[in-house]
Amino acid sequence: MKDLAGKHIVLGLSGGIACYKSAELCRLLTKAGATVQVVMTGAAAQFITPVTMQALSNRPVVLSQWDAREPNNMPHINLGREADAILIAPASADLMAQLVQGRAADLLTLMCLARPLERVPLLLAPAMNREMWSHPATQRNAAQLRADGAVVLPVGQGAQACGETGDGRMLEPEDIVDELVAHFQPKVLRGQRVLVTAGPTFEAIDPVRGITNHSSGKMGFAVARAAREAGAEVTLVAGPVHLPTPRGVRRINVQSALQMQAAVQAEIAQATVLVAAAAVADWRPATSAEHKIKKDGSGLPPALQFVENPDILAGVAASERARSGQLFCVGFAAESHDLEANAQAKRLRKQVPLLVGNIGPATFGQDDNALLLVDAHGTQALPHANKLVLARQLAAEIARRLPAKAVAA
Ligand code: CTP
Repeated sequence: MKDLAGKHIVLGLSGGIACYKSAELCRLLTKAGATVQVVMTGAAAQFITPVTMQALSNRPVVLSQWDAREPNNMPHINLGREADAILIAPASADLMAQLVQGRAADLLTLMCLARPLERVPLLLAPAMNREMWSHPATQRNAAQLRADGAVVLPVGQGAQACGETGDGRMLEPEDIVDELVAHFQPKVLRGQRVLVTAGPTFEAIDPVRGITNHSSGKMGFAVARAAREAGAEVTLVAGPVHLPTPRGVRRINVQSALQMQAAVQAEIAQATVLVAAAAVADWRPATSAEHKIKKDGSGLPPALQFVENPDILAGVAASERARSGQLFCVGFAAESHDLEANAQAKRLRKQVPLLVGNIGPATFGQDDNALLLVDAHGTQALPHANKLVLARQLAAEIARRLPAKAVAA
């Protein structure tokens, strides 16, 4: 996905062992479609060579405010003006302290001071020893940088190059790119609390068997990611799938429909939007055997009895908060044929303002999908595209339809 196509990123490196990860970060930024201009401090150049960063960014690295290549001899002005964002990774403790004080002793700090505050966002990925990170001075500086309008990304946790273990590692390059991509998304769901269900459910027959379906959870996970990128607080109730949790999303894992219903019921009072993307099993075995069911030699299969699962979405949609417009419910419909007619019928049956139809067998497990939005005014097709692209479009469509009451305080 070329999520950063057309974006020009100034990637700043200050001194720290995490500089070795900035090489990969640079590669991922260009892979995502961005053009990258690297600026390094003298300390950063002790950890990784400008040659490496030039080769990966395909541009000469700028190291000094006295770099005479710029016709007006003002790299600190030009670099910031050309950027869609300045990303400093790693941001050392010393660099953060310098920025807080408005110091400008080298090109990187000088460029940050000269940054057009309203137009060019500044994101910092701190990286340092855990004691340095937790020191009151660094925490004070991080808070002040946020107050001054910078985005200070969280640090990672774990083993550090110094041999200690704790908070202060630089975020992984993939996570930094995700944060940057999210930063550029319009904040159409800011202030909303979005609850998403995703994936299949698994209904146990006995301890080793059960019934489930082919839902991969990819669409629901993409919706959760897109809602978070759009500024919402997101909780994801996930059936059994092996997908990584989108950054910044709170995840609750469940197995069965009854567990999914319990998790939704526990969370729904906090939510302003529910997106039910899960493919909930319609039936479950009436009883789940305590021990594995064995063949009895008769050649006959066991006589399994099934009972219907509760309709999680319809139950929530019938609640007072949903009916009064404080909670906006969005359903999905996985159909195999007659998408429009089935989706409209399902929307009315479930009493939801917006239903998203898709052809289940064509999309289960795939990275792409095509959606048909169905509401009281008619239908709207979101043509075939990557699920994340569609999820972002859906987030905007939900935002457009939100009644004023669903806007959280
Ligand atoms: N859904 C739910 N609880 C269920 C069944 C479905 O919350 N027990 C939700 C799904 O998450 C989805 C919508 O209802 O948002 C429609 O799901 P789908 O499986 O397409 O429809 P069903 O209600 O199961 O109807 P049918 O199987 O007859 O098509």
